[in-house]
Amino acid sequence: MNIQVPIEVVERAKLSASQRELLEQAIGALAHAHAPYSGFRVAAAVRLADGHIVTGTNQENASYPVGICAERVALSVVNSIAPGARVLEMAVTYRPSSGTGHGPLAPCGMCRQALVEQHVRQNAALGLVLAAEAGPVWLVESASDLLPLAFTPSDLD
Ligand code: THU
Repeated sequence: MNIQVPIEVVERAKLSASQRELLEQAIGALAHAHAPYSGFRVAAAVRLADGHIVTGTNQENASYPVGICAERVALSVVNSIAPGARVLEMAVTYRPSSGTGHGPLAPCGMCRQALVEQHVRQNAALGLVLAAEAGPVWLVESASDLLPLAFTPSDLD
């Protein structure tokens, strides 16, 4: 078995207007991150099928494991305020404690699992737009591609 993950590396200028807006909203949301412990701010912005954009940011806690990643905050907000809404695409960006990021950030393992769950519950793939505040962008057509051999609801049958 040889698993491959298709990722398109593009310059920002090559993004669609919708993807550019999503990434800009995510960059704007970095200000809302609560990251006093790591100093590492992360923001996610999701585009819903009706065109709306919802953002989420990492929310850390003095009890470190209580903290939650930006991607899961965004998905939780969507599923709480608009249950049944379909997520078309998610942009993820970040700002380190000093300087600017070096290249795109791919979601952590737990967030990949949450993205797979979103794919399953909406029965449609969701794309990813991954980038630092400047520089190249990674486009992933289906977030589930980042978690090959995922544990899914059907495994519970
Ligand atoms: N973080 C995210 O928000 N998303 C990721 O995909 C990776 C990590 C957050 C968690 C923590 O608040 C900080 O980044 C440093 O790990």
